[in-house]
Amino acid sequence: MAMNQQKAAEKLVVALDTADRQQGEWLVEQLYGLVAWFKVGLEAFTALGPDFVGWLVERGAKVFLDLKLHDIPNTVEKAARSCAQLGVSMLNVHAAGGAEMMRAALAGAQGGTPAGHTPPLVLAVTVLTSLDDLAWHQLGWRGSVAEAVIRWAELARSTGLAGVVCSPQELSRLRGAFPRPFLLLTPGIRPAGSQVGDQRRWATPQQAVQDGADLLVVGRPITQAPDPRAAAQQVLDAMAGAL
Ligand code: C5P
Repeated sequence: MAMNQQKAAEKLVVALDTADRQQGEWLVEQLYGLVAWFKVGLEAFTALGPDFVGWLVERGAKVFLDLKLHDIPNTVEKAARSCAQLGVSMLNVHAAGGAEMMRAALAGAQGGTPAGHTPPLVLAVTVLTSLDDLAWHQLGWRGSVAEAVIRWAELARSTGLAGVVCSPQELSRLRGAFPRPFLLLTPGIRPAGSQVGDQRRWATPQQAVQDGADLLVVGRPITQAPDPRAAAQQVLDAMAGAL
């Protein structure tokens, strides 16, 4: 079981969705030694900046910088380089930016990594889970969202990216089509009995692990809990039980 606890700890990413530096630091202190990965997304990054990311890296945390880069290849390459220079362990881009843009992100991630260090993993976001088939067709795309998710994941894989971000509902299909070591990272995790909130498509930690997730992003069920450390431990126990 201790072995599974260790494996679970390597798979949990806590989303630090806050614009308040004190709150962010407090959460990290609460979870010290228990959680290895933290996600810094648009809210925290636009409010707290690279300085907060640097603070996390200095504390020994593995940082997933979730900025979903999407621009011309040259700009994305430079942004990915800056991410790598901050010492983050993972970053992401929109697959919709195309193969050349994804290759540019990889080049930037590698180019910005100090010698002797491992470059950050680069993941692709396929179709945003906020888009349904109607919104998809309004944008002029053909076929279903489900087909596009597989097609764009294949493009990400063949471009050399480490994996994709996906919803819990997409896990089984993606895992079937893309064996490990291609990484599947999923948000939308709700421990049994917790508040579902605004997540419409969610899964329990056990289910996500069973369906083939490599990394589970959990935000509010841990960060808004009266005791974040106890909540994180509960999630880890659930994950370990399914490993
Ligand atoms: O608080 P909660 O556990 O819902 O946080 C989930 C995190 O994952 C948030 O940072 C959110 O932006 C992100 N996310 C998501 N659903 C997606 C993609 C990303 O909830 N489809």
